[in-house]
Amino acid sequence: MAKATAPVYIVGNWKMNKTIEEALNFVDTIAPTITKANSTVMLAVPYTAIKSLSDKTKETKVIIGAQNMNAATTGAFTGEVAALMLKDAGAQFVLLGHSERRKLFAETNEVINKKVKKALESNLQPILCIGEEYEDHQAEKTQEVLKKQLEECLADIDKSAMSSLIIAYEPVWAIGTGMSLDAEAAGIVHKNIRLLLEDLYGKKQAQAIPVIYGGSVNLSNAKSFLATEGVDGLLIGSASLHPETFAKIIELGQNGA
Ligand code: PGA
Repeated sequence: MAKATAPVYIVGNWKMNKTIEEALNFVDTIAPTITKANSTVMLAVPYTAIKSLSDKTKETKVIIGAQNMNAATTGAFTGEVAALMLKDAGAQFVLLGHSERRKLFAETNEVINKKVKKALESNLQPILCIGEEYEDHQAEKTQEVLKKQLEECLADIDKSAMSSLIIAYEPVWAIGTGMSLDAEAAGIVHKNIRLLLEDLYGKKQAQAIPVIYGGSVNLSNAKSFLATEGVDGLLIGSASLHPETFAKIIELGQNGA
């Protein structure tokens, strides 16, 4: 189904890629596209590049964020980074609950819930990632899994804080595999996520929460997702590493949405 609303969110997740120099060059390359863009462009970058990138993009429309954080305020957590430190470095948002964090670093919904709370309290916009494993998809348990993730990751969070939240739906089996869900199927899941959010927070609050799609999004399929009702934007991993590709997807965001 065609949709009428813009702007959309185009979010890049660089994962563990790019030195500071590479990151700065990337932003130089996409700068002309950004100037014209009416979409919201966000980059989740490695901790080490946050300060340089946020300084560089201050006068532009690019929003810089992190890919993770610790839920504690400060303390003896060797190797961890707190919300306040991310803010201090210039981050404006943080990805939370990405499936790689869940799988490789054993993050549970309970841990993610603490992080979401801390991010909101610290004025960092959380992008909460949810998604089902392949077996759940096959067994048609997607809705059940997403419901549990939303309920547990967003437990005890004040309704009023919801307006700064973004939900990223990423089928785990579609991340980095090239096996993307088709746009129509994604649209159905997004509609169901919206209903789950309405159950949790009421219709009005739920409408204010963007729900974006991720998982093997590339230049060939981005347009179909962006044209799908209920898909408010894209979370892009590997295709966000190439500035030319990312810039073209940003252009699709403004033309196709
Ligand atoms: P991908 O990653 O686009 O490379 O599948 C998406 C993500 O991990 O957010």
